[in-house]
Parts: sequence; structure tokens; C-alpha cells
Amino acid sequence: MAPSDLLRPALLAAARSPRMERTVTKIPVTRNLVDRFVAGETENQAVAATTDILGSGRYISIDYLGEDTTDVAQASGTVSHYLTLLSALSQFTQDGEKNTASFPPSSVRNVEVSLKLSALGQFLPRDGHKVALENAHKICAAAEEAGAWVTVDAEDHTTTDSTLSIVGELREDFPSLGTVLQAYLKRTEADCKDLSGPGSRIRLCKGAYKEPASVAYQGKAAVDDAYLRCLRILMNGQGYPMVASHDPVMVEAALQFAEAKGRTADEFELQMLHGIRDTEQHRLIAEQRHLRVYLPYGQEWYGYFMRRLAERPANLAFFLRSLAST
Ligand code: FDA
Repeated sequence: MAPSDLLRPALLAAARSPRMERTVTKIPVTRNLVDRFVAGETENQAVAATTDILGSGRYISIDYLGEDTTDVAQASGTVSHYLTLLSALSQFTQDGEKNTASFPPSSVRNVEVSLKLSALGQFLPRDGHKVALENAHKICAAAEEAGAWVTVDAEDHTTTDSTLSIVGELREDFPSLGTVLQAYLKRTEADCKDLSGPGSRIRLCKGAYKEPASVAYQGKAAVDDAYLRCLRILMNGQGYPMVASHDPVMVEAALQFAEAKGRTADEFELQMLHGIRDTEQHRLIAEQRHLRVYLPYGQEWYGYFMRRLAERPANLAFFLRSLAST
């Protein structure tokens, strides 16, 4: 077993530990590494980063950080942040895209927001499903008005049924709403088949949470194989696949599957996280590929940051070296 396979579960468990959060967020040097992955804590910083990213020819998906809320007021606060953000983002959206609920649109939308239903109240002990649905509905309506897309992130497997059901309900009013599927879940091949019909927008990622072997493939080789199977289904389907991976093998496979299926550059897109494989992002843009950057901002960066450490031991090593040198 690779050392990273041993470290990953521990880091992902720490990502959900309030005690670890209190410790890690107090270490001054953490901030330097967080800045690599997160645009900043304020909306102004997110908008400034958006200007740079769109200016480079890439598209954007902005996430207001936060997850696992069990407080109604906090969930409403998250909605307010998205509404303010979307109003600021409308300056970047393409003319002619506003107020159209039709899908597919005449062209790809350059601006998108991503949201986590657990930040919108999905885990509330009473009416969680209903509150998250209503909150997400408000954000989707504001995004339509701003001319932006919305995609719903995937969280741990206990939320998948609820998330897909909320997405299904929202898509009745907002047909362009996208959602994320995680290739490491054993159910996802079937979900890809169900959700690859006309008008669907599926972001396929490998999956970033600590999941048991009963529901998820374990180890890189099995997850990569599952990703390729799911990718093929989406590329052969009638929707708009969003290939969220930094893995050169997945990116190359996406290009090959798309070509084999006769998809033009407008009929799928590649996606990467802010701060990861930047040079490769620019190379793909130079090749006229659609490439969207997922850009998180906000104060609740801890869980997101720990998942990035878990993905790559080199990030953890860098973090520990920085700590040692302080
Ligand atoms: P893999 O982990 O095999 O990495 C391939 C290569 O990419 C590495 O060798 C390295 O070069 C580089 N790399 C990957 N991660 C890195 C890191 N943290 N730091 C530096 N380099 C790194 N997950 C989820 O569960 N729910 C979700 O909603 C989303 N949403 C999402 C959106 C987008 C746009 C992306 C790109 C990813 C997600 N993810 C996600 C995260 C995803 O599940 C997965 O954990 C990461 O993308 C890492 O997997 P890769 O496919 O990049 O491959």
C-alpha cells in the first residue's frame, strides 16, 4: 500500500473533526497554503480572481465555502452570499444569455456557481430536504437572472439520494441545472446512465470523501477504471459532460471519447480546481478546449483545504515543512 493510501483516510477524517479544525486554522503558516487553493475570504477577492480567470480565456465556477450546516440562519446567510455574488457576477456573463430557462443555451455559459446542499440546510434535523430545496431554488432563480449556470456539488454518499432528488425537483424549473457525480461510488455508473439524457449537465469527478468499501471503490486503479467507464457513458449520452479531473489519463480519455463520438469543443468541457495544474490549464486553452476553473472563496475553508491535502501527499509534506521552518 502506498503511503498516500494510509494518509488519505486520516486526513479525510480530520477534515470533519471540529477539534482538528480549531487547531489547524490557528496555525499562521496554514494561510500560505490555503491561498493556493482558495481565492480569498471576501466576495471582492472572488470577483478579482474571476476577472483574471475569465481574462485568460477560461470559464469559472465559484463556490462560497461552507458545508454541514445545522443552523437555519447560517443556511440563509449562505443564500444571501450567493445572491450578492451573482449580482456582482452578472457583469461578466455573456449578452443574450440572461433570463433564458431553455437548455441547451445557444452557447456555453462562461460563469457558473457551484453549491453544496449541506450548506443550504440539507442536514437540518427538521425539514432539511425542504429547506435546502427552497434555498437552492432562490439561488437558481438569481443565477438565471444573472445569466449564470448552477451546478450542485456531490458530498458524502449518505447525501447522494437526497441531493439527486432535490436536483431533479429543481430541474423542473431550471433545466440547465447541473450536478456532480463521483466515479468512486459503485452506484455512479447506473446514475450516469440515468442522467445522461438530453439537456443534462453532469460534472464527473473521482470523489473526495472518506467512503467505506461497501459503497465505494478503494485505491487509485479501481477508481480510475470506474471513472473511465462513467466518462464513456456520459460522452456517449446526449447531455453536456463536464470532465472534472487533473489526471492526464482522464483528460486524454475525455478528448478521445469526445472525438470518437463526434462531439465538438462546445459539447463538453474540462474542469480543474483553482491552484492545481495551472500550466496544463493554459495549454488546454491554447488548444481551444473549454476549461472551467472551480474557484472557492469564503471563511469556511477548512474542510475543502483538508480534502486537497488528502489528494496529494506532496501538499501535506509542503505544509509540514512550512510548519517546521516557523
Ligand atoms: P488524481 O487524484 O488521481 O490526481 C491526478 C493528478 O492531479 C495528480 O497526480 C496531481 O498531479 C494532480 N492533483 C490532484 N489533486 C491535487 C491536489 N489536491 N493538489 C495538487 N495536485 C493535485 N469531489 C467531490 O467529492 N465532490 C465534488 O463535488 C467535487 N467537485 C469537483 C469539481 C471540480 C471542478 C474538480 C476538478 C474536482 C472536484 N472534486 C469533487 C474533487 C475530485 O473528486 C478529486 O478529489 C480531485 O479532483 C482529485 O482527483 P483527480 O481526478 O484530479 O485525480
